[in-house]
Order: sequence, then structure tokens, then C-alpha cells
Amino acid sequence: MTPIINCIVNKDTKKNPIWLMRQAGRYLPEFREIRKKNQDFIKLCLNSKLSSEITLQPIKRFSFDAAIIFSDILMVPYGLGQPITFEKNFGPRLGNFEIETLKEINEEDFTNSLNSIYNSISITSKNPLIKNRDMIGFVGAPWTILVYMINKISPKKNKLSDKFFEDNSLNNILLNIIEKFLKIHIKNQVKAGANVIQIFDSWAGLLENNISEFIYVPTLKIVQYVKTLGVPVICFPRGIKDYKKYCELIKPDMISIDYELNPEKIIKEVNIPIQGGLDPKVLLTDKGILKKEVRKYLEIFKDHPYVFNLGHGILPETKIDMVNELIEIVRNFK
Ligand code: CP3
Repeated sequence: MTPIINCIVNKDTKKNPIWLMRQAGRYLPEFREIRKKNQDFIKLCLNSKLSSEITLQPIKRFSFDAAIIFSDILMVPYGLGQPITFEKNFGPRLGNFEIETLKEINEEDFTNSLNSIYNSISITSKNPLIKNRDMIGFVGAPWTILVYMINKISPKKNKLSDKFFEDNSLNNILLNIIEKFLKIHIKNQVKAGANVIQIFDSWAGLLENNISEFIYVPTLKIVQYVKTLGVPVICFPRGIKDYKKYCELIKPDMISIDYELNPEKIIKEVNIPIQGGLDPKVLLTDKGILKKEVRKYLEIFKDHPYVFNLGHGILPETKIDMVNELIEIVRNFK
């Protein structure tokens, strides 16, 4: 059994598998090397050979227990025909779309436009390096995808523009379309060889009201769908105020916690396997602080099924040496 499945299915507490959110990315010199020659980020995501190579880079270097496919949550709006570019030091910038055009997109068109991602998963999952490791596929949660499609850039100062809720009927039509294609994207990834799905709800913490309408109801539909495919689903509702209620309602197979959540509180509140938590900024400090902070999480979760991970993506300025040290601490703990 692969490490994450073992943690989820057998509730094994003897070992803590480890992988890092955004492990295939800019902190790696070998990634930056490829990125320099491939200025168009979307094209890079759609290059099966390079995407597979980038996915395997952190496995080769650190021997993580899981690989996560090199792609992006915004490939779904791209597959729906919404223009998108990634600008240096700015992030994603999405263009306009016509709701009537979106309504006409069918499964085949969508799948064809993202086929190279599935191909990349297929190539990667057959690589000998993935033997005995998990191959994680992923999507953005409906809410986070809606935020990007409507807001068109990452929300500023963690706030949505007032215009966001102006047209709730548009939001609802769009949510339905998003749900439909997230399911297709998940199904295609699983067919290609992903054995775990992670749902990133990076902007869950933005919502004060309407959490049920925009987060619980649509996410539950996606989670239930993943379960019908027979693969476990990990949810990462970053910044959500009530993790306990989220877990009770959504029932993911594993909950990935953000770095603002008190780990001593969550362990009393939920009884499903837990992942993550460590503040990625701790990797920018020194080895003494790192050891103390990492051991804090390992101690708290020592009798609970726990996958070591960060409380958000690894930062681009992270030093390789600190990642090596982190792995050392986790692997030598038990
Ligand atoms: O985890 C991995 O290593 C797999 C690949 C992966 C990427 N993005 C590659 C990427 C994954 C799982 C994502 C998820 C993603 N993308 C999320 C959810 C997780 C989170 O961090 O909250 C979000 C919100 C996005 C949208 C996105 N993509 C943003 C806001 C940005 C720009 C800022 C940033 O964080 O880098 C991206 C670009 C992006 N996606 C890069 C990578 C490696 C950097 C591209 C570059 O400039 O070289």
C-alpha cells in the first residue's frame, strides 16, 4: 500500500509520510532552469514531458512519499476557454468570458484541451520512481475557482471586490458549470493514474457569510463524486474558521490544515486523518527553530494518522538545505 493510502485506510500511526504543497516549483534550481527556457507557464503545464519531469524533480532530490502532478488549479478555467496569463511577480491574470459560450462547452472539448495533463499523469505514474509512492491529482475547490474566474486576479489584501456578489444568479450558473467540469477533470486524472485527489480551497477563509452556499454544498458534491471513483480525497480549506464543522459536513478522507490553525485544538475536534500545518515561513528561519516547530506537530499528532506537510505552499525563497533538514527530522522521529 502507498504511504498516504496506508495512513488513510489503515489509520497507521507508525510512520509519517511526507510531501510538501508546491513541492514541484520555484525553490528548486532544476525547476527554475526549465522555467527560464519556458516563459509561458500555461504552455509548460501543457507540455507532458516537461510537466512529468518537473513532477519527478522533488522525488529525485528528496525522495518524498508522494508526487503531485505539475499543473495548476487554473487549468480548469483555461480548459473552459477563459484567457489566462501568469505574470512575473504578479500571479495569474484571467480575461473575460461569455456565460453563453461556457454553457456550450462539452466534455470532449474540455478533455481535449487538457489532454496533455492526463498524459503527463499517465507517463509519470508509470515511472519506476512512483512505485510505492502516491500520485496526487488535484483541483481547486468550486469556490476558489469561482473567485478566480470572477475576480480575475488573486484577491487583494485577502478581500473580494464589492462587485463580487452583485450578480448572484451569474455566480450560481457559473458554480454549476465549474462543478461539472471539476468532476470531469478529476475523473480524467484518476483514469490516467492519480490515486489520491486533493482539493485546494485556497480562498475558503475569505468568506464570512454564505459559506453553505459557496463552500459546503458545492464542495460536498465534489467530494462525494471522488468517493464514487474509489480514490481518497484530501481537502485543504485554507483559513476556514470552523474546521470541525467543515469535516462533519464534507467528510473528506483526510483534512489538510493551514498554519493559522491551532493543532492542539483540531486533534480534539476531528477523528479523520490529518495532514500539514507547519508554517512555510519556518523553513526560512534556522535549523534550531525548524526542529522545534516540526517536532511540535509530530508530537501533537504522534498517535493520530498524520501526513507531514506544510500549512500552505512552500515559498520560492526556501533553501534546499532546510528541506533536507526537515525530511531528516520527520524521518528520524519515530
Ligand atoms: O504542488 C505542486 O508542486 C504542484 C503544482 C501546483 C502549482 N499550483 C504550480 C504552480 C499546484 C498544486 C498549484 C495549486 C494552485 N495554483 C493553488 C492552490 C494552492 C495555493 O497555493 O493556495 C492556487 C491558488 C494556484 C493559482 C496560482 N498559480 C497562483 C496564485 C500563482 C502565482 C503565485 C504563486 O503562488 O506562484 C500560480 C503560479 C504557479 N503555479 C507556479 C507554480 C510552480 C509558479 C509559476 C512561476 O512563476 O514559475
